[in-house]
Amino acid sequence: MGKVHVMDHPLIAHKISYIRREDVGTKEFREVINEIAQLMCYEATRELKTKEIKIKTPVAETTGRELAGRKPAIIPILRAGVGMVDGMLALMPAAKVGHIGLYRDPETLEPVEYYCKLPADCQERDVFVVDPMLATGGSSAAAVRMLKDRGITNIRFLCIIAAPEGVERMRKEHPDVDLYIGALDEKLNEHGYIVPGLGDAGDRIFGTK
Ligand code: PRP
Ligand code: URA
Repeated sequence: MGKVHVMDHPLIAHKISYIRREDVGTKEFREVINEIAQLMCYEATRELKTKEIKIKTPVAETTGRELAGRKPAIIPILRAGVGMVDGMLALMPAAKVGHIGLYRDPETLEPVEYYCKLPADCQERDVFVVDPMLATGGSSAAAVRMLKDRGITNIRFLCIIAAPEGVERMRKEHPDVDLYIGALDEKLNEHGYIVPGLGDAGDRIFGTK
């Protein structure tokens, strides 16, 4: 059974509060989203496997630890998930990056798939799916389903802001997936937006509105 990790780090809380403000422009929004992604990547990699190794410092021989598990893949959900990729890569520079294209139909709020391109060896990797917003959970649940349909099982999902409705849906449809949540908000409004949230993450990252 996967776990739900709601971040409690002061830097993450501070940065999320900052980007919620409606007067924060595209440049700053984009930069801070990546900073938050980097901090969340640190938390989401806490349980990666390591092995003991012998090392020689200029002073003495000793033992240390190095990563010993699967290699990572970062899978942003297009479009807003792309805004978190550089922050993730800052800590995992050798990670491979796949893309899943989904948008939410504004009427039905159901996800519509339009793209999927993954690293060839994705099944052998630890997969970090990223999207700043977990609202109804339709997009993230569909993205994880697309991965599982391709035989991918080691999946973590990272979002900056989540609504309780989305968390519940992910827990129900994908109980094996660990969720890393920057902030857990109050609810969804009648348009499926997270309240208080930060508005439309894609528009704010790419400056399209
Ligand atoms: C946003 C967001 C998530 C989705 C969350 O994307 O980035 O992917 O909504 O909502 P859900 O949990 O109810 O599915 P959007 O559909 O606006 O597409 P975009 O990234 O292309 O703007
Ligand atoms: N997608 C967003 O970008 N923001 C929300 O509040 C909900 C879905």
